[in-house]
Amino acid sequence: MNNFISMKEFEKEQIIEILNYASILKEKKDNTNICDKKIIASLFFEPSTRTRLSFTSAAFRVGAKVLGFDSPDATSIQKGETLRDTLKVINGYSDLIIMRHPRDGAAKLATDIVDIPVINAGDGSNEHPSQTMLDLFTIKEEFSTLENLKVAFLGDLKYGRTVHSLTEALSLFKTEFYFVANEILQIPKYILEDLDKKNIKYHILDKYDEILSEIDVLYVTRVQKERLPSLELYEKIKDDFIVNKESILNCKESMIILHPLPRINEINIDVDSTKHAKYFTQAKNGLIMRQAMIAIALRDKEIKKNQREKKIIIKKSEKIVCENPNCITHVENTENKVIEEKNKNFCYYCSREITL
Ligand code: CP
Repeated sequence: MNNFISMKEFEKEQIIEILNYASILKEKKDNTNICDKKIIASLFFEPSTRTRLSFTSAAFRVGAKVLGFDSPDATSIQKGETLRDTLKVINGYSDLIIMRHPRDGAAKLATDIVDIPVINAGDGSNEHPSQTMLDLFTIKEEFSTLENLKVAFLGDLKYGRTVHSLTEALSLFKTEFYFVANEILQIPKYILEDLDKKNIKYHILDKYDEILSEIDVLYVTRVQKERLPSLELYEKIKDDFIVNKESILNCKESMIILHPLPRINEINIDVDSTKHAKYFTQAKNGLIMRQAMIAIALRDKEIKKNQREKKIIIKKSEKIVCENPNCITHVENTENKVIEEKNKNFCYYCSREITL
């Protein structure tokens, strides 16, 4: 099945193959024959502008038709229907599911329920693989390579799913990481443990001025009011990092600033007119990248299976008690699947390490 759930599913060669395929589609004038007669279900249980609209536009551009919703408010979820039943029904109406959901692991759960491909359009604070693919596409277009770059993440690194997925992907390309955040929003320990395992160099920082002359990419993220435990905390930390024209004066000539958007105030609009600002180009790249992902999911192009999948054991547990409070396992019935890898157990749905 050609799902896109987590960047953990992809090896370097597969990522490059997908990026190259997007470049081929970009050169072609008309892609509308690629997925004609296909119907895509676009299921957004959380707000979105870019992901939903660029996926919809991408679907039209590859000739597919789209049905779905942009909020669960107008669905029978409001009457108490489970995600499981909702997906089972939509399975019969479409050829591909593109889903955004507030719970970590929801997209992975969807793959247990349906027999059509699923693209994760963002699951809670967990992953956002289509954003990562377009981030990589943008970085590659700028530097002609993904290898050996120095990448700084700034802002909400704890709940920022775009940061988590991009770190996973870039760790395959000998990236040196700089994680810049206040103590509350620093990068989760499980991601650092993964980088340690892979012997990847990283730095934990609370300011970025001293690294500006070294880094190639400054990836800024917004403080996510909706994911913080309280409004008071949001008010306290929301202005901790503001990037403006003056604050980046000492950066490398070639440094680019990316942001998955939406932005609030973390990048001042005076940065927009600098040559470093690439976040609107990045958002635009979502259109071609998502055409490629839809076409791959609908089997216009085959991508070889990940070798990692051969090294892990998937087993069923009597029950799962995932310590991640936002994991989908806390609110939906699942098949209680657990991943065993190198004598450790991980939640099959949100990938966090668990004790059985
Ligand atoms: N970058 C991103 O996911 O934006 P939306 O939330 O608007 O889709």
